[in-house]
Amino acid sequence: MTLTKKTPQKLPDDHKQKLEKIAEIIAANEAKESNLIMILHAAQGIYGYLPFVVQSFIADKMRISVSKISGVVTFYSFFSTEPKGKHTIMVCMGTACYVRGGKKLVEGLKKHLNVDVAETTEDGKFTLSQARCIGACGLAPAMMIDNTVYKAVTPNKIESILSKY
Ligand code: FES
Repeated sequence: MTLTKKTPQKLPDDHKQKLEKIAEIIAANEAKESNLIMILHAAQGIYGYLPFVVQSFIADKMRISVSKISGVVTFYSFFSTEPKGKHTIMVCMGTACYVRGGKKLVEGLKKHLNVDVAETTEDGKFTLSQARCIGACGLAPAMMIDNTVYKAVTPNKIESILSKY
């Protein structure tokens, strides 16, 4: 299985409708800056992620600067400026996994998927991410794909695991 590098973001077909919904959320919260995090959460739920075009729309509606919005979005790790793939691969980089090959596993996945950590493959199938500990330390290195835990994963198992998706 060969995957190609991700391409620049393209707006979803229902971009306008999604912005309308976000505008409704902002209005329902009276565009109050004290509700910004909640509004950004809701916007991410509607849009899937918070690209610059969405941040700038929210800034405009709330009459606050885009740099302020952008500062909040980049500060909190639960906000994403990149679209998420259909499946999220989370490689454990906790101590046990790191020591027993977690880094090699990440490198193998990066090479196989042709993406960096926190990026999504061009076909939108996988987002590669890292976690601290996923509770499978006894069989490190471990990774999760969505809700499934894979234990004792070595780089040579990557292809067969990913082919299930
Ligand atoms: S350190 Fe990886 S599962 Fe705990």
